[in-house]
Order: sequence, then C-alpha cells, then structure tokens
Amino acid sequence: MKTIFEPFRIKSVEPIRVTTRDERKKLIRDAHYNLFGLHSDDVLIDLLTDSGTGAMSAAQWAATMRGDESYAGSPSFYRFQKAVKRLMPFRHVIPTHQGRAAEAILFSIFGGEGQKIPSNTHFDTTRGNIEASGAEGHDLVIAEGKDPQSAHPFKGNMDLALLEAYLLENGDSVPCVMTTITNNAGGGQPVSLANIQATAALARKFGKPFIIDGCRFAENAWFIKQREEGQGARAIPDIVRDCFAVADGMTMSAKKDAFGNIGGWLALNDNDLAEQARNHLIRTEGFPTYGGLSGRDLEAVAQGLAEIVEEDYLRYRIRTNEYIIERLDALGVPVVKPAGGHAVFVDARSWLPHIPPLEYPGQTLAVALYELGGIRGCEIGTVMFGIHPDGRETAAAMDLVRLAIPRRTYTQSHADYLIEVFEELARIKDNLSGFRITRQPRLMRHFTCQFEPLQA
Ligand SMILES: Cc1ncc(COP(=O)(O)O)c(C=O)c1O
Repeated sequence: MKTIFEPFRIKSVEPIRVTTRDERKKLIRDAHYNLFGLHSDDVLIDLLTDSGTGAMSAAQWAATMRGDESYAGSPSFYRFQKAVKRLMPFRHVIPTHQGRAAEAILFSIFGGEGQKIPSNTHFDTTRGNIEASGAEGHDLVIAEGKDPQSAHPFKGNMDLALLEAYLLENGDSVPCVMTTITNNAGGGQPVSLANIQATAALARKFGKPFIIDGCRFAENAWFIKQREEGQGARAIPDIVRDCFAVADGMTMSAKKDAFGNIGGWLALNDNDLAEQARNHLIRTEGFPTYGGLSGRDLEAVAQGLAEIVEEDYLRYRIRTNEYIIERLDALGVPVVKPAGGHAVFVDARSWLPHIPPLEYPGQTLAVALYELGGIRGCEIGTVMFGIHPDGRETAAAMDLVRLAIPRRTYTQSHADYLIEVFEELARIKDNLSGFRITRQPRLMRHFTCQFEPLQA
C-alpha cells in the first residue's frame, strides 16, 4: 500500500506556527546560521533530533500519575528497573537523567589519559565524554558503513579484523570495547546480531568488558528481524535480549527507544564497577533509585519500553523513513541507503559538489532547508567531526544532513511536504554557497558555534 498506516489516533494536538521564507531568513541570520540557536516555535517541521521529541501515549501519561517521588526506594524505580531487565538482563540498572550522564559516569571509570576506546562509531556525546576524560575514541565501522550508496544490510557493523588488530596493538590501553546500536553517527544503520556476538567474543578473548550504547535497540532489533538470516520469525523482545545477553553493560538514552521525553541509564553486570558508578551517580545525578529523574519520568520510561517493541509501531516507523528515501532518491537527491532506523540522511557533499568540505556543505544544505521550508535538520559532518583535540581541522568522512524523525509525532502529509521542499531545493541548489565559522567552543562545537555565509 502507498499509504503508511500510522498505528495511533491523535488525541491532543500542538499547533505549528506558520512562518514565511523572509521571516526565516532573518531568524536564521539572527541565530548565526546555527540551527541549534533557533526558537523551536519558528520551525515548521522539527527534524533536528528524535531525542525526547516523540509523542507519549495515553498509557504513558496515565503512568506518570502513578509517579512516586520518594527520595529512596520509590516503587516507580522498581517498575522502571523491572521494565529494563525484562529486555536487558543486566544485574545493575542505574538511572540517569539522560544518556550522556550515563556516559560521563562510565568514562569516569574507563576513561583517563592514555586510554583508547574502540567502537563501530562513537556518537558525539560519547566521544565528547571520552575526550573530556583524557582518553581517545576510535571508530572501526566496516568500510561499507562509510559508503552512502552501499546496500549492505548492516552498515553499522564493527570491522572485526580492524578491532582484532586494534586490540593486539593497544592491548593494555583499552579499558572496554563499545558498539552503538543503531549506528547514529554513521547514518542510523543497524548492527547484526551476529556482529554484536562476534564483537563480544573478541572483547572477551582480550579480557575487555563489552558495552553497548543501546539508544535505538528496538529499531536495531527490527532490522535484525527483517534482514538477518534465521531471525524473521522471532519476537522483537527475544532478539533484544539476545543482543544484550552478550554484553557486560550498556548506556542508554531513554529519549530514544523508550519513548521518554527525558531519562537514561547505565547498566552493568560487575558489582565493583556498579559500586563505583553508583558512588559517582550520588555525587552528580542523585540517589540510585531516581538518578536525576522524577518518579513520573521513571514511570513513563517503564511504559514506553513496553510499547517500543510493538511490531506495528516499528513497521510504521521504519516504513516512514523508507518512503522518504524512495521519494528523495527518485528526485535524484543522494541519500544514505538502505533506510536507517530513526532518520533520513542526505549526502550533502555529493549533492553540493561545488562546496568543499571545509566550507561545510552539510551546514549549507541544513540552512537552505530551513530558509526554504522551515524544516530543521542537523549537520553530521565536518562541523560536527572535523575539529581535532589539537585544533587541526580536516574533512569528516562524510558530510551528511540528518533529518531525524521524532517518534509518533508527524504524519505522512508532513513527509510529503518535506519532499516538496526538496523539489524546490533541487532547482536552486547550484546557487548555494558555503559558510565559515566565526566562533567556536573547544568541545562539541556544532551545538554553539557561529557561522557567516561566504557570499551574502
Ligand atoms: C547513539 C547515541 N548515544 C548517546 C546519545 C546521548 O543521549 P542523550 O541525548 O540522552 O544524552 C545519543 C543522543 O542522541 C545517541 O544518539
């Protein structure tokens, strides 16, 4: 069927303020051409992130009313812990206010000067936390994962030969091995169950803990069910459990595949590591039965975890991405294929070949999408990854624009509007010019740096 069946009815709506192109040109100029600097009221379709921006269900809102705000031992924590352990059977579940807080705690244990941490691809906050601790992060995704046109079904896979060589070379300096599912910074591409298991086996062979960044575990499991041999008839929760059964721990942002507006956790099996983590948590986030969250948040996440593994939801979610990708592809817009889990990634470097990477083709496209259609996406390229700790700047592996799709928030009509904006963009794209950065912070510059157009 051409129509995407959205498996929910809308019970409560949020109006969108409609702006004109001239208004948006001024608004983005006032924000120094950084889309993070816009007021969200000035955005028509906000695809900046899928993080915490999803629509909660009636059952989740109802669950928030059960939220118990006790400082210690709240029943909301125990419901949260039970919901996590049903899918991810770790011994210790440590709530945090979001994913990066779990990372900060993890790298307070595993980070530090001289430490080296491999992953398929570290997400930006993960890398930021690793580097802030004095350690280095390295990305060892398979070669197909860096080729936007490769049709490999699991482009988020770890390159196992590279990982083995890395572990042989860096042995003592490696405190843990990580894998991000799905691989957000590499196009939202999935990691196969076989690859997760093989990565875990390699980590174990070298005596290293294996940690999964599980932010989009349900989408990853859906792809395993669809694309991996022998997995098609299995239930999503069973696939999820298999993914985490081979890990020693996980970090999680509940703002993604737990339908939360806020929340996260760090889970670990090792008692000593968990004790260190809890001590850090008490100092920075809160007591271990709330970890910086209210009881209401813990309840919403517990209910969200039950809903996120529903197949009707996952089918609709992934189909939406496929639909946008098919339509953009037909227009000749280069997109990362096959469809990833939470976002559509446009290959700005190939679409705007007249703009070199150090003039930020991804940023150029993101700004043009906003000016033309009020759509807010996010550059994932040289702005995000091009600057090194020593201040050097080089082109990132790819210059992408990520259009992240909030969960259960927009409809197929919004997707059709997005396609129309790209139709118009295709007509004017050759006249776009790049940007230069006029101000930037030392770490994670993309959130706050300021730009100036190279031609007015
Ligand atoms: C793969 C991945 N890891 C970690 C994080 C950090 O989570 P949070 O935004 O909750 O701090 C994100 C957020 O986008 C992510 O996509």
